[in-house]
Amino acid sequence: MKILGIETSCDDTGIAIVEVSVRHGRTRFKILSNIISSQVEIHKKYGGVYPMLAKREHEKNLPIVLDQALRQMNINSIPSHQIDVVACTQGPGLSPCLWTGLNFAKNIAEEWDVPLIPVDHIEAHLLIGLLFQNTQYQIRNTKYFPAVALIVSGGHTQLVLVEKMGSYRIIGETRDDAAGEAFDKTARILGLGFPGGPEIAKIASQYKIQNTKYKIRLPRPMLHTKDYDFSFSGLKTAVLYDYQSRSPRERRSKAYIQAMAAEIQQAITDVLIAKTIRAAEEYRAKTIILGGGVAANVELRQQLSYQIQNTTYKIQFLIPPPHLCTDNGAMIAIAGYFKFLHKKYIGPEAEVEAKPNLRIE
Ligand code: KG4
Ligand code: ZN
Repeated sequence: MKILGIETSCDDTGIAIVEVSVRHGRTRFKILSNIISSQVEIHKKYGGVYPMLAKREHEKNLPIVLDQALRQMNINSIPSHQIDVVACTQGPGLSPCLWTGLNFAKNIAEEWDVPLIPVDHIEAHLLIGLLFQNTQYQIRNTKYFPAVALIVSGGHTQLVLVEKMGSYRIIGETRDDAAGEAFDKTARILGLGFPGGPEIAKIASQYKIQNTKYKIRLPRPMLHTKDYDFSFSGLKTAVLYDYQSRSPRERRSKAYIQAMAAEIQQAITDVLIAKTIRAAEEYRAKTIILGGGVAANVELRQQLSYQIQNTTYKIQFLIPPPHLCTDNGAMIAIAGYFKFLHKKYIGPEAEVEAKPNLRIE
């Protein structure tokens, strides 16, 4: 079967078509097309995402992105004969953006006379991590569970215990800013571009510890607390104070910006890794899953992978390739497939509403 996945929860308009085939009890996912129209250039000048502006862009982009997604897999006539279900992000996310995607999805599901599947965006980030390297994935496979998933994005930072397929419990989350938000806000203080995560990562990679005069040490908020919660707003304040204490010349110097970017990235990485490993060991997790936009960060990927090799017992590490960590329609289609299996879909005429504060469960 073929699933069309639509993602509009924030500033990316994503539509993908994923083919699912089941043979001898094994499920295979094949991404046939995956188109993302980014609004970065529009939001860049404001240093953040403006919901009404984002909504307007989604409205404009959705028909174009759909057309591209269908054409990429050579469907140009009657899609209703070839697409079996439409899946769309229901939440969490920015309300006007979610509504725009859902209304669009509902219209095409109605037109093509196929079921519509509302999808949890966080679950989608989690499932694409679980499944991507497992195209031979068996749905009842117990070898991965329990699993601990770290989902780190621009709006969320959550540690989720996955007891079995479809059964989730949030065991820790941020009390203020999300990890991606911490990257975005500190990048803004330093005068770097938006989104801040890739900018900080790029500049941090140029940092050479041996030949810098700056030795910056930022706090690792909540690193030693017994819970699995996070807090990143103090980090942002510490960056601001350090920045303000520097002369205008220092603030502009490459050496300072590089040293600061490297320390911001390391401070965030240290806390994320420490809590994830501790949670996995405490819950005797067989797998650690990493997902969400911040999971595209090379240092986080490498350092977490390294630390997992040093755990008290063997834990598998599952992570999607970087381009599937940031928001995309393929993850919505894949999550939609599992909802479809559990008959969590609605007929074309039923009402479906956006849920900006949806929590994975
Ligand atoms: O999952 P995502 O695409 O959108 C949301 O659901 O929020 O995540 C976007 C976040 C942004 O905060 C962005 O700065 C961050 O992911 N991000 C990164 C990297 N690529 C994207 N953070 C650190 N390093 C990266 N390479
Ligand atoms: Zn996301």
